[in-house]
Parts: sequence; structure tokens; C-alpha cells
Amino acid sequence: MTEISILNSADTFVCDENDTILRAALRANVGMAYSCNVGSCGNCRFELVEGDVSHLREDAPAWSERDLKRNRWLGCQARPSGRCTIKFRADENYITPHPPKRRKARLTRLSDITHDIREFRFEFEGEDGFLPGQYALLSLPGVNGARAYSMCNLPGEGNWSFQIKKVPGGVATGQLFALKDGTEISIDGPYSTAYLRPDRPRDIILMAGGSGLSPMVSIARGAAAAGLLKRRKLHFYYGCRAENDLIDASLLGGDISGRISFIAALSDTQATEGQRSGFLHEVVEADFGERLKDHEIYFAGPPVMAAAIQKMAHEAGVPMNQLHFDEFY
Ligand SMILES: Cc1cc2nc3c(=O)[nH]c(=O)nc-3n(C[C@H](O)[C@H](O)[C@H](O)COP(=O)(O)OP(=O)(O)OC[C@H]3O[C@@H](n4cnc5c(N)ncnc54)[C@H](O)[C@@H]3O)c2cc1C
Ligand code: FES
Repeated sequence: MTEISILNSADTFVCDENDTILRAALRANVGMAYSCNVGSCGNCRFELVEGDVSHLREDAPAWSERDLKRNRWLGCQARPSGRCTIKFRADENYITPHPPKRRKARLTRLSDITHDIREFRFEFEGEDGFLPGQYALLSLPGVNGARAYSMCNLPGEGNWSFQIKKVPGGVATGQLFALKDGTEISIDGPYSTAYLRPDRPRDIILMAGGSGLSPMVSIARGAAAAGLLKRRKLHFYYGCRAENDLIDASLLGGDISGRISFIAALSDTQATEGQRSGFLHEVVEADFGERLKDHEIYFAGPPVMAAAIQKMAHEAGVPMNQLHFDEFY
């Protein structure tokens, strides 16, 4: 256990030899900014004022020579070698009601959603609280570095379930898709600030592209379970390439025919009845235009899609605090 002090603050927290500075801070309810947790976004950058750290992922995409010269490190990758003092701007928005915990979990169910998306259910003992939209870090045998996957279910079910898209040649997804029932792995979570905001009064737009399906399904289920759909509409847009990527809308739970509308946008194939042709953001823009800013918007998916949605939302004047997303890498 190592003590981490924060410059100009009376707060300290401890970080054990298997943890990182960001994750240890969040476990201690210290609000350190972050998004991806895998070294790719750079949101967790801090300045090392005193002490030594090393990075888990030496080739982290968000870390550069310039950072090293300025003694800046990534909280999600930095492991202290002894007592440290660090400098960053604490932000209590990063503290959520369920501080992340590490637990052993057992794979108890597998079900195929599409030809390349599979749902994995992991059960574990103890508290399973999280907010719909949050993710966990899964450590897999033989895989260097934990990967982030978002829960698709709701808390209180005694398990966390994940809808995971197989990446051709992917190291972690290769291992995951070969896992057998009963396998035990380590799961650390929950993380993320891109969770359902039940107190916001606006209608909801959810946009899921490929690997981003899971958190949007959890948010849709969470909104229905919390009774939000009695007063709000929920528009679920699912972006995919072709027919064989389509999902069954009953996955979302709730009243599909009433307050939830489900629209599939196909980018590479001519749409048939009940579907739309085009990229996800183009279809949403065509449907809402200036009315986008009257909605609470959640989205998840690959970086190119996320960038296109952010641009569209910015141009439509959607305030940043109505946009909820994690950087997916
Ligand atoms: C917040 C978040 C939530 C996500 N939720 C989902 C989800 O619900 N469903 C889903 O299908 N995918 C999700 N992803 C994507 C997922 O985490 C993986 O990037 C994806 O499955 C590809 O992993 P792979 O190892 O198979 O692919 P590969 O192509 O082998 O690996 C590439 C990815 O692995 C990561 N990586 C590589 N080396 C390391 C390392 N040493 N330490 C940590 N990370 C490393 C990189 O971020 C890179 O993008 C999410 C990603 C993020 C950031
Ligand atoms: S780089 Fe650390 S949270 Fe993204």
C-alpha cells in the first residue's frame, strides 16, 4: 500500500501494488477525471510533483514524449513505486454512488445477439450496484491489460452482463469468444459518468453503433424500469452495416410499441421496410434537426461514429451537459 497525496489538498488515498492511481482514487471517492481507462483518451492526465511511477501500458496512445518531459502521466496507467504527490484538478462529477471494486466473477451464460455480438453473463457474490450506461474492466487470461466493456443489464440481478462485438484478430475478444461456461475472471467496476440521468425532464435519444450496443440497452432498460417512459419518449437508434447485423428490438425491454421507438440505420445496404439507409448520425439529424437540443442524448460506439455524432450535436446547438458518452477505443 502506498500513500498518494494531492498537491494543495488535505486529501490522501492509498494505492496497492496491483492498482493504478486513477482507479485507487475513485475507490477512495476522490474525483479524478477520466473516460476510457485504457490509456487512449488522455482525460486522466496528472502531473507528478514528487515520487516515482511507471505505466502499465508503455505505448499508451494518449501519452507522448512531451508528457514525459513535463512529468505528466496517465492516471489509468500509472502505478506508484512509493509515496507520491500528484497535481490534478479534482472534480466531484467523477464520483458516482458505487465506487469501483475488484471481484472474481464466473461466466454463467452465453447468448448470441448477432453473427458477431455475443452476450456474456458473469455472476459474483456481493453488491452489484451500478448506474445504467456504466462499464467494467475485464482481465482475461493471457491478455495484457484489462479491457473495458459496458453492462447491458440492470443492477440487482446478481450479475453483470455484457454485449461484446468480436473484433477480427482482436486479442481480448478472441479470448472472450473462446471462454467456456464456468470460467472465472477478474472484473473491476463500475466506471463511467455516461450514465442515465433520471432527473432530466427531456425526451431521450439513444444512439448505439456496433460495439456501443450494450450501454444503450442498459439505459433503455433502466429508463423503462424507473418509470421515466410514462412522461418521456425514448428513441433508440441502432447503426449497423447490413441485414445480418440487425438486432431484435425486444432486447430493449419496456413498451416498444408505445414510448420506445426503435430505428435501425443501415450504412452499407439498401434499407427495407421499417429501416433507414445511411449513417446513424445522418438519420438522427434528418429526424430531429434543430429539435436535437430539446433531448437528453446518450451514445456509444466506435471513435469515427462518436466524432460524427459530437460534430452533429455541436452544430445543432446541443448543450454539452445534455450529451452523455464515453470514448470507446
Ligand atoms: C469505455 C469503453 C467501453 C467499451 N464497451 C464495450 C462494449 O460494451 N462492447 C464491446 O464490444 N466493446 C466495448 N469497448 C471496446 C473494447 O474495450 C475493446 O477495445 C474491443 O473489444 C477490442 O478489444 P480486442 O483486444 O479484442 O482488440 P484488439 O484490436 O486486439 O485491441 C485493441 C484495443 O485494446 C486496447 N488495448 C490494447 N492493449 C492494451 C493494454 N495493454 N491495456 C489496455 N488496453 C489495451 C486498446 O484500447 C485498443 O483499442 C469499450 C471500450 C471502452 C473504452
Ligand atoms: S487515458 Fe486514462 S482514462 Fe483515458
